[in-house]
Amino acid sequence: MKPRVYITRRIPEKALEIIARRCEYRMWDREDDPVPREVLESEVGDVEGLFTLLTERVDERLLDRAPKLKIVANMAVGFDNIDVAACARRGIVVTNTPGVLTETTADLAFALMVAAARRVTEAERFLRDGKWKTWSPMLLCGVDIYGATLGIIGLGRIGQAVARRARGFSMRVLYTSQRRDTGLEAELGVEWRDFDDLLRESDFVSIHVPLTEKTRGMIGKRELSLMKPTAVLVNTSRGAVVREQDLIEALRDRRIFAAGLDVFETEPLPKDSALLELDNVVLLPHIGSASIATRAEMAVMAANNLVRVLHGEEPLNPVTV
Ligand code: GLV
Repeated sequence: MKPRVYITRRIPEKALEIIARRCEYRMWDREDDPVPREVLESEVGDVEGLFTLLTERVDERLLDRAPKLKIVANMAVGFDNIDVAACARRGIVVTNTPGVLTETTADLAFALMVAAARRVTEAERFLRDGKWKTWSPMLLCGVDIYGATLGIIGLGRIGQAVARRARGFSMRVLYTSQRRDTGLEAELGVEWRDFDDLLRESDFVSIHVPLTEKTRGMIGKRELSLMKPTAVLVNTSRGAVVREQDLIEALRDRRIFAAGLDVFETEPLPKDSALLELDNVVLLPHIGSASIATRAEMAVMAANNLVRVLHGEEPLNPVTV
């Protein structure tokens, strides 16, 4: 008998085929609505494999309802939605999708840098609102990216890909990371700084750390006050790395120039969020890895992990804590 799996959203056809060939599956067959929690809880009772997105919380409560579960294959590189320790205690493998989304996400971090610095979305709103009367010397002026100093927090795969892109903009690149890596410094032409110095010296600060208990809230009032008043903060990692209320106040009081955010403390961003009232922030709906090719690759990778573990093979991308 084929192993049973539950898939929490409609996924690209290629990935579904991989699963269908070797598993019996049920799927929450919608693209833009997450599976309701009560449906998920009732669906996991008899499954050995679970294909999840970052919108699903895999916690003790869910695991209690899934006594046969062997693998949770997350279609994301981040896995803060999963209680990995609880899975490990029960012998459940957790996998993620590293590597395939690195360049796509770095592209978006750069897009946010450019958009926030040069007020791209604000300027487009201005034009669409019919406010464009004439060319004016100081109309919608922003700050330069070219030649500026970029501070990267977390020089992992995505942080490194952002550093490579920065070269093309003649930027000076600083980084702060748990471990200093002199080999990488030479290869990428980046300089290590401690956290506070990086915040003080950078014109752009881009966050590339996973969300953990250590990184939760690592950018708050104190850190924002160290940044230059002309600086731009970019976050494509996880919203909770930044204390959103502190950021809102810093942006409102113009204590930093702007921010570019793809991730938020609460997603989707609540309709009454004060961020929506600010002009000096670019807001995107968590689309860091959202190119057609990359999302397909992520789904295939998660599907392969799922199927392998259910057939007694080693997972390709196991997550450990
Ligand atoms: C997206 O945020 C991911 O972690 O892949």
